[in-house]
Amino acid sequence: MTTRIFSGIQPSGDLHIGNYLGAVRHWVALQQPGAECFYCIVDLHAITVPQEPARLRARTREVLAILLAAGIDPSRSTLFAQSQVPRHTELAWLLNCITPYGWLGRMTQFKGKSAAQREQVTAGLFAYPVLMAADILLYRADQVPVGEDQQQHLELARDIAARFNRLHGETFTLPEPRVTPAGARIRGLDDPAKKMSKSAAGSGHAINLLDPPEVIRRKFQRATTDSLADARFDERRPGVFNLLAIYEAFTGESREAIEARFAGKGYGELKRAVADVTVEALRPLRERHATYAQDPAQLDAIARLGAEKALPIAEATVSAVKERMDVGLAAVNTDERVRRNRAV
Ligand code: TRP
Repeated sequence: MTTRIFSGIQPSGDLHIGNYLGAVRHWVALQQPGAECFYCIVDLHAITVPQEPARLRARTREVLAILLAAGIDPSRSTLFAQSQVPRHTELAWLLNCITPYGWLGRMTQFKGKSAAQREQVTAGLFAYPVLMAADILLYRADQVPVGEDQQQHLELARDIAARFNRLHGETFTLPEPRVTPAGARIRGLDDPAKKMSKSAAGSGHAINLLDPPEVIRRKFQRATTDSLADARFDERRPGVFNLLAIYEAFTGESREAIEARFAGKGYGELKRAVADVTVEALRPLRERHATYAQDPAQLDAIARLGAEKALPIAEATVSAVKERMDVGLAAVNTDERVRRNRAV
């Protein structure tokens, strides 16, 4: 029996090493016989908060190029952009209509984002978790790799699925979270109290996956540490802990070996070493990305093929859901209609 895996990533800013270590590299590793992976660039989630005008499509393409460069293989996985498969929004609406308002008001990410936005809190931001539930339930995914910050949304997706099944009959698989804790540990270099984030201001915060080596080195050099000059995995000293955790994630060495390596050396040496392993780990990704980036037509063709694989599965789920909810009259064949309109 195959396990169906679904996950999504927002094209809302530059992807950084926290995204890579916490999500992307696990996605790559999950592409194994017996697993059927769906990886979706969730552009419709990105627009729940204001996006830089005229940058979203370029960013969507860039995330696609990075995922391919990192090793997502479109012949093994289904890789596409959310807006290419309109069934995501259709199912989201149907699920909106069975999701109690109170469930959404309790989402901590909504509370945080809406407090930060004030004037710009849209209905879309409120309904964000329902669109995420639709993404997952559309493909009847068994497992969803997510970071710790998305666990509450995943529980909501399970609750929505269970509620639908109760109201309208057994339809949806309840998705299991597959929490990947490593990336949640990666913190901002300028402020290790905060998780590394795509949206944080400041050029010293995140190591972006496409940063050139000299930029990576400079950012590590300026990273916040402490005055103890003692490199240990001690969570109470988050700056140094973060640097060591990045070293650990890229090298796979044990903590004992890493502490021994840096014992008695200054932070300058630690920072140089972390920068070296980061530069080397990202080099192949950066080089492959450059090749993909030169050919946007090829990128679009890859996404189109992914969307074409996703579409029939999504359509089957939505028609089952509409059937159960008793929504709709005769289905319209879009292709036919388009052809007819062209003729006149
Ligand atoms: N909300 C997720 C995030 O910001 C992205 C996402 C959208 C997602 N749809 C999904 C993740 C479905 C997993 C499954 O990280």
